[in-house]
Amino acid sequence: MDYSELAQKAIEAKSRSLPTYSNFHVGAALLTEEGKVYLGGNIESSSYSLTICAERTTIFKAISEGERKFTAIAVAGDSPGFCYPCGACRQVISDLCGDIDIVLVNQQQEIKVFKLSDLLPFAFGDEDLK
Ligand code: THU
Repeated sequence: MDYSELAQKAIEAKSRSLPTYSNFHVGAALLTEEGKVYLGGNIESSSYSLTICAERTTIFKAISEGERKFTAIAVAGDSPGFCYPCGACRQVISDLCGDIDIVLVNQQQEIKVFKLSDLLPFAFGDEDLK
């Protein structure tokens, strides 16, 4: 699957979000090594800090379905600019997906691609726990 198609799925995934308090819709589309795509959106709680971002919703969905190997995650936000994953999501992507491609798409459908290691250099990880 090419990244413009994956980005389109992230835009579609915004309809799955439940941003009750911020009204800021984010969608994510996670691509497995076998070519399957998981979708998810951000889900907010009245206890705001319990909110979960679109990226983590999507990753946890895929992991809980037994998936372990991923190649890319696309993220679509709700502002004219690109929606960069927050720090917590960068850590979770690093731990559960590795150094995958991060595909960002803005409202003009422009795309930027990074490696996770561009966004989270010198990451903490399981090796540091040994
Ligand atoms: N959010 C995401 O879902 N992903 C990001 O990369 C940044 C922020 C969500 C969390 C919250 O529901 C809303 O956007 C505003 O911060």
